[in-house]
Amino acid sequence: MDICISNMHGMLEALKERDRQGAEATEKLIKSKDRVKDTAEVFTPNWVVNDMLDLMPPETFEPATTFLEPACGNGNFIVEIFRRKMMTAVRREMAGEVMDAELQTLISMSSIYGIDIAEDNVAETRDRMWQWAFAIGRVWRPGRFGSGSFMSALWQVLDTNFMLGDFINDDGEITFTQYRFAPDLSFVTQETRLKDMLPAPAPAPKRRARLKAAA
Ligand SMILES: C[S@@+](CC[C@H](N)C(=O)[O-])C[C@H]1O[C@@H](n2cnc3c(N)ncnc32)[C@H](O)[C@@H]1O
Repeated sequence: MDICISNMHGMLEALKERDRQGAEATEKLIKSKDRVKDTAEVFTPNWVVNDMLDLMPPETFEPATTFLEPACGNGNFIVEIFRRKMMTAVRREMAGEVMDAELQTLISMSSIYGIDIAEDNVAETRDRMWQWAFAIGRVWRPGRFGSGSFMSALWQVLDTNFMLGDFINDDGEITFTQYRFAPDLSFVTQETRLKDMLPAPAPAPKRRARLKAAA
């Protein structure tokens, strides 16, 4: 097994620190009154995020489980979902399974999708996901986390999965990229447009024909 108790201790300390920073970041629940008015932007406090995610069975947070946050803000739910998935992988290793920390990071992150209409929120989400990936990875695999192939895959995942978009009035721009990773961290992708995943709109009522008949 590739992880030792001192690594785990460091890891838990780093995560606690991240939690504290996350809680502080989310204490600021709005950025401005105008934004609340324009886009209903009110962030969910860290403790509510945790209470809500605690309602889900722990097996929900498998690294490969797919999550979509259609109005992700600055990532409050997404970062906690990612952290929980990573904890699943770490616990599995502690139970004796052989795990590749970089691969588990990529699998966990690439199956989470976040969309927001505000560019600064998407940038913050990407930044926080990046920080979390390294906060966990560096204590899980000290000195052996952040290979070239991992970094280029991670950049791509951050770019494709945390998207600027209008989830309500999407005109075909929103695309989900599904990743399949090989053990050497090479990958293939498949793209699906949100538009193609939704049921076809109900046919419009035949109002024109009725009006014609009446005339
Ligand atoms: C109530 S906040 C919630 C943010 C985040 N989910 C959280 O819980 O902290 C709503 C978010 O939706 C975004 N938003 C508003 N309209 C949107 C739309 N049509 N498509 C995508 N995001 C939208 C706003 O920018 C804001 O970040």
